[in-house]
Amino acid sequence: MLDRRDFVLGSAGIAALGLSSCGGGGCGPDGCGGPIVGSASLAAPNVPDDSTLTIPATIELGFGSPGAIRAAAGNYDLGAGAKAGALLFNRQWPAPTLRIAPGASFDVTLDNGLTEPTNVHWHGLVAPSAMDGHPMDVVAVGAGKRHTFVINDRPGTYWYHPHPHRRTARQAYLGLAGLLLVDDGHDAARGLPTGPRDVSLLLTDKRVDNGVLDYSPGMMDMITGWLGNVVLVNGKAAPVARVEPAVLRLRLLNASNARILNPALSDGRMFWLIATDGGLLDAPRAVNNVLLAPGERVEVLLDLGRDAGTSVGFVSAAFAGMAGGTMGMGGGSVPSQGAAFDLLRFDVTALLTGGPGTVPSAFEPIVRYDANLAAQRTRVFELTGMNGMGSGWHRINGLLYDGARIDFSVPLGLLDRWQFVNRSSEPHPMHMHGTQFQVLSRTGGALPTDLGWKDTVLVRSQEMVQIALRFDAAGEYVVHCHNLEHEDDGMMLNFAVL
Ligand code: C2O
Ligand code: CU
Ligand code: CU
Repeated sequence: MLDRRDFVLGSAGIAALGLSSCGGGGCGPDGCGGPIVGSASLAAPNVPDDSTLTIPATIELGFGSPGAIRAAAGNYDLGAGAKAGALLFNRQWPAPTLRIAPGASFDVTLDNGLTEPTNVHWHGLVAPSAMDGHPMDVVAVGAGKRHTFVINDRPGTYWYHPHPHRRTARQAYLGLAGLLLVDDGHDAARGLPTGPRDVSLLLTDKRVDNGVLDYSPGMMDMITGWLGNVVLVNGKAAPVARVEPAVLRLRLLNASNARILNPALSDGRMFWLIATDGGLLDAPRAVNNVLLAPGERVEVLLDLGRDAGTSVGFVSAAFAGMAGGTMGMGGGSVPSQGAAFDLLRFDVTALLTGGPGTVPSAFEPIVRYDANLAAQRTRVFELTGMNGMGSGWHRINGLLYDGARIDFSVPLGLLDRWQFVNRSSEPHPMHMHGTQFQVLSRTGGALPTDLGWKDTVLVRSQEMVQIALRFDAAGEYVVHCHNLEHEDDGMMLNFAVL
């Protein structure tokens, strides 16, 4: 198996930029954690090595290169020494990044080294349903499953995580989540930063107490979703990345169970949204922050061209109007939904190679679905909360998930309009397998991510969001809330594409 990082970035480039690369020997079963840096102080001139941003190992797939991922218990280190209790792919914290080109043959075998059933879902890819990690299609303890299909997806930032019903939240939270990049090799021609200027950041909040990961949701946590007290960036709290004074591309994944993030630069300056879940926008869009719900990805460009010799903070900015938070029973000191977090600090060096780059003016056009045509086939999903005691707090059309039931069917290849109507007091990031969609409208004010291809869309309390979508692969898929506690608690339906 080739490790493409070696010829895309070059190990000298990694060293020169002060990024620690994981998986090449520097990162063993104990993980590659560093200390928790409580706050990204922008003034600190000297950075201890162990706070350096970790770049996950890359598994290069396709063109004869199969991949293997083994899920097993392992250790993590959040700065208080190695601790047991993580669940890891290939003993790595964070999990390896899979990379493949459009048109290539995906071929990845999952081995279940856990003590419970698991499986793996390729979030955002259109995979045949037998390869998709359906919640009822699990891999037994000690067994394996090979996943093969051709990549017909747009270049973009996707991800992978387990999806066994009622076990997804805990397994993903304890470490089983990684990035999956579809890369057609044309990004330099598009004027986009590549190599060490193209940085993937897996963002995930955790509840950490003295370096120990806590996952113990009580009833109230099942209602709000499990919220953490720190946001890890590629497995570390508030790491530092040394970067050139140039245009930088960040690929951001919110892999949190329930926390919505709001990435922004700490000085509030503008940056550019260039891609959403399913690939590039038609043109960069200037933003000052971008809401990123669990399951969603964005790609952004930051212009650090005038920042040589300084530090620039990257944060999740505070936001209002989203319920949840302090009512969780797990600690009492957990910041509420909408609280601000430090993410990481960029220490901007001198230019190493080439010029600073520019922000491209446009990408390939996105062909828009016909909203009138979509409206002819409208399906409504009512999202409700608080239906009773004990379980099943959140429902879709009054239903709780039943793996043996097909809740509706969708004709293959026809355009549909789906309406998500949130009648609950909480936000629900709604996701479906088997396609990418377009947002037609929302009642609560447009979000910049509504402009691009999506597989997960934030539906805020009392909001109605309409999307247009078409399924081009027959089979059985699911639609669910990507608040993983809500999903495990039954906020999910089966549908068949026929
Ligand atoms: Cu990332 Cu069905 O989920
Ligand atoms: Cu998915
Ligand atoms: Cu939800």
